[in-house]
Amino acid sequence: MNPLKHVAIIMDGNGRWGLKHKNSRNAGHKAGLNTVEKIIKETIKNKIDFLTLYAFSTENWKRPKKEINYLFSLLQTFLIERIEELHKQNIKLKIIGIKSFSSKLNNLLKRSEKKTSKNKKLQINLALNYGSKFEIINAFKKLKKNKEKINEKNLSKYLLTRDVPDPDILIRTGNTNRLSNFLLWQLAYSEIFFEKKLWPDFNEKDYNKIIKNFKKIKRNFGKI
Ligand code: IPE
Ligand code: IPE
Ligand code: MG
Repeated sequence: MNPLKHVAIIMDGNGRWGLKHKNSRNAGHKAGLNTVEKIIKETIKNKIDFLTLYAFSTENWKRPKKEINYLFSLLQTFLIERIEELHKQNIKLKIIGIKSFSSKLNNLLKRSEKKTSKNKKLQINLALNYGSKFEIINAFKKLKKNKEKINEKNLSKYLLTRDVPDPDILIRTGNTNRLSNFLLWQLAYSEIFFEKKLWPDFNEKDYNKIIKNFKKIKRNFGKI
């Protein structure tokens, strides 16, 4: 049985779900939030230490302003309403990505991280304005600036996921088989599960099925 410490998820398919059920992409984003809550609970039940959720990519700024504003207002409301409860559940929230939002949101994110920084049960890395290419280039720049030797260990410490083991599992919902600039370095040896269901339809049963299948995989890491 493989140990499981870290699950990363590309939560894709909200827009299509919203259009199909409510004729509105934004309704899909709202519905997707319920799945986030379910999956957090199930991650704790499975005693997994790290959950990384891709919420907004550096490329998602190309979307219509109306959709972007809605996404960030959803996040804002979620944090205002739920951070206390996450804190009570001993969950640590870490933002990975560039915090260049409105000062109101930046402050809320920083406060939420600070409040939960000592929590131990589960660390949620929320990838927000995250892009893997930017992250890697930035790490190289820091190596150069500090005149450090270029090797895996030194590079890893300048990634936004420092102190976090690489994901054991990557799940992408939404019937799309690509990485969309997500954790390109960290996913080098992850087991990848592409899921046909759209994110709002993904549930505990689907998640547990993936976990069960993962545990049986022979992970070689180059060996035989
Ligand atoms: C993923 O769902 C959520 C975000 C990118 C914020 P999408 O919004 O990409 O949904 P589809 O892929 O258009 O259905
Ligand atoms: C990836 O989904 C980003 C998130 C889930 C946040 P996208 O829907 O933005 O990816 P592409 O653009 O289809 O590759
Ligand atoms: Mg998408």
